[in-house]
Amino acid sequence: MVPKLVVEQVSHWFPRGDAPQGMLALADVSFTVAPGEFLAIVGESGCGKSTLLRILGGLVQPSAGRVLLDGQVVTAPSPAAGIVFQRPVLLEWRTVLDNVLLPAELAHEPPTRYRPRAQELLDLVGIGTFAAHYPRQLSGGMQQRVALARALLRQPGVLLLDEPFSALDAITREQLQLELLRLVALQSATVVFITHDIAEAVWLADRVLLLTPRPGRVQQVFPVPLARPRTLEQRYSETLAALAREIRLAMLGTPAPAGVRG
Ligand SMILES: Nc1ncnc2c1ncn2[C@@H]1O[C@H](COP(=O)(O)OP(=O)(O)O)[C@@H](O)[C@H]1O
Ligand SMILES: [Mg+2]
Repeated sequence: MVPKLVVEQVSHWFPRGDAPQGMLALADVSFTVAPGEFLAIVGESGCGKSTLLRILGGLVQPSAGRVLLDGQVVTAPSPAAGIVFQRPVLLEWRTVLDNVLLPAELAHEPPTRYRPRAQELLDLVGIGTFAAHYPRQLSGGMQQRVALARALLRQPGVLLLDEPFSALDAITREQLQLELLRLVALQSATVVFITHDIAEAVWLADRVLLLTPRPGRVQQVFPVPLARPRTLEQRYSETLAALAREIRLAMLGTPAPAGVRG
């Protein structure tokens, strides 16, 4: 099967005054994501998860290596990838509906053509009746639902999520995790989901990729031995608890070399 996403030997350096060669954030990262697969990427804070996601989304060019989406080298953001960040980054002066329509405008496409889909997506993420509200009138969880709807507007084949639920309280987070599972099944989207929450990763994903501490390298990939659809009961199952424990122990097994951690 042709992979949806191919990451080939991606390395990334950030310029740093005291180090001529810069600071290595990602080192020789390679993996593929199959169509319809849900891949979670975990790793400790600062290991390069967000940098990797930005590279996948074409927002950052890697210092070395390349990313292919549907066989094409990613050089810029594309409608084929929808991105959701940790913060919803909504425009305060625009209604919820107009926030969801933003990607169409940015692409110079007539927003009116996308209105029915925007409303449908808001219905899908459970906030259809808030279309005419403004972001400040919504809770954090509802704002993140808007961000999710916005990312789905132009029917991206790939959804890239960078710790989208980490700012939310535990119950809201669980609700949104369930919503995401439902949405992803409906849209048959391919997903790359960044998180530092191992329990979240094993419940949502088909495979969990563990990055080493900085510089991020692929340490290990863990298949999740559960079919879909996932249920809330499974979140607390012994199978997932055992897998989460295994991943956590793998993380602890590779302390970063002295002097490298920031
Ligand atoms: N724009 C930047 N300029 C310089 N250093 C950066 C920049 N963005 C991230 N970094 C550094 O790169 C490393 C990886 O960052 P990041 O990708 O945000 O990690 P994570 O998302 O896993 O916490 C960190 O040490 C961070 O300080
Ligand atoms: Mg991050």
